Amino acid sequence: HPAGVSPLCGNQKGTFAYTTVKDRLPVILTKCVDSISRELHAATTTTTASDASSLAPLAQTERATEGKQIIAELSKLVYELQRDRPLQRINDTEEDAASWNSVLESLGGKEGGPATWFGTPWLFSECHMYRKIREIFVVTNYWKDHDVFARQQKEPSFWGSVKSMEELAKHVKDVEVSTLDEELKTHVLREFVQFSLWGNQTDLSLLQNVSHADMHKLQTSTSASLQQLEEKIIVNDSKLLVDAISKIKNGRIDFILDNAGFELYADLCLADWLVHSGVAKQVVIHAKRIPWFVSDTTERDFYWTLDAIQQHATTIRDDTLHSRIQTWRAYLEKGTWKLTVDPFWTLPYSFWQLPTEGGNLWDDMCTSQLLIFKGDLNYRKCVYDGNWATTTPFSEALGGLNNPQTPPLVCLRTCKSDPVVGLRPGQAEDLDKADPDWRVNGKWGMIQYQARAAQ
Ligand code: F6P
Ligand code: MG
Repeated sequence: HPAGVSPLCGNQKGTFAYTTVKDRLPVILTKCVDSISRELHAATTTTTASDASSLAPLAQTERATEGKQIIAELSKLVYELQRDRPLQRINDTEEDAASWNSVLESLGGKEGGPATWFGTPWLFSECHMYRKIREIFVVTNYWKDHDVFARQQKEPSFWGSVKSMEELAKHVKDVEVSTLDEELKTHVLREFVQFSLWGNQTDLSLLQNVSHADMHKLQTSTSASLQQLEEKIIVNDSKLLVDAISKIKNGRIDFILDNAGFELYADLCLADWLVHSGVAKQVVIHAKRIPWFVSDTTERDFYWTLDAIQQHATTIRDDTLHSRIQTWRAYLEKGTWKLTVDPFWTLPYSFWQLPTEGGNLWDDMCTSQLLIFKGDLNYRKCVYDGNWATTTPFSEALGGLNNPQTPPLVCLRTCKSDPVVGLRPGQAEDLDKADPDWRVNGKWGMIQYQARAAQ
């Protein structure tokens, strides 16, 4: 690891890294087991929709046998994790397997031993779990493309958010049809940035037990509640961000997406406004290649969301919502919006390694005028998931990402893990008094901007 930074590890008691590896990851895996059990049950009943219903009887039997095998493999993973056993190599033929295995080999564990679940950097072991889940599915015949988080987690959470989406669509329409002076336009932009920021509260890996009613409360989209929420933004570089954006005309802006559902929708509203207001001629939207951290947006989630909103708008006869989706589809058709999926985002690297390991993806991103990194995991990756003092300057914590090739960037993140940088002296102590869980409970946000580094 580079000098001056120690990555967080699952064995550091008292950290959220420890809580996650010890308690949260087993729960997430157990939910996967539960989800496959339900799928298998659904396949045996005629009343429930199932992916198996179109299969011939023999294929249905083979699918069920594979399903049981998947459950056994997932259970083995929980067992190994809870006993801090060595992390296993990736044993499938996916194109990224070699990269995973070479990072695993380079890590090693205590006293020359193998890397174990608690003993390796948290960022690696947590990402490794999602890649192992992928392996378990991808080696089968009938479950290859199965997204274990879709049906029971991402889709219900989407349907729990549609009220908020309807409200936000009305707001987007109102501001788009109004004649706004420069000051008001700036205000609207700040609002959309905040919608996108607070949309990140609804990450499903953290909110395993939140009801749909609570989700709606989290997403209340009135300007008054946004003003109250401003107090909860512990680093607020909105002004720097808005100044930088106002200098861009017909440029390219990149979104490195986080979660599907309401967060994705809020991100797309921001992307829409950037196009509408003449800032962006192109918006490049980066999604995940495989199911990732429960609720992260895959390509399937992206198009599923557009279809689902359209279907909902038709059902409730909401023309405003309907025409919003038509606008977005037109952006995608014309290439004004471009959805892209690169394997880099689901590799175990931090973003310090983007310039060296990012290949074509990175060369292409360097032509952007602004990179918008969404969410907590992307923040962790930007700052190397390091155990930083909270007063460390953001530019320093960005390490290899802070170089003259890197476009200006902003992180929009609600705090759900230990790494936090760029605070004023004494600020962390004040936060500790105000809310002992401020680092991890998702109630506090950051809009952290970094201009391009000098040559
Ligand atoms: O579990 C680790 C973690 O990165 C948390 O910090 C957070 O709860 C979650 O995964 C991902 O959050 P987000 O969807 O905001 O990246
Ligand atoms: Mg996420």
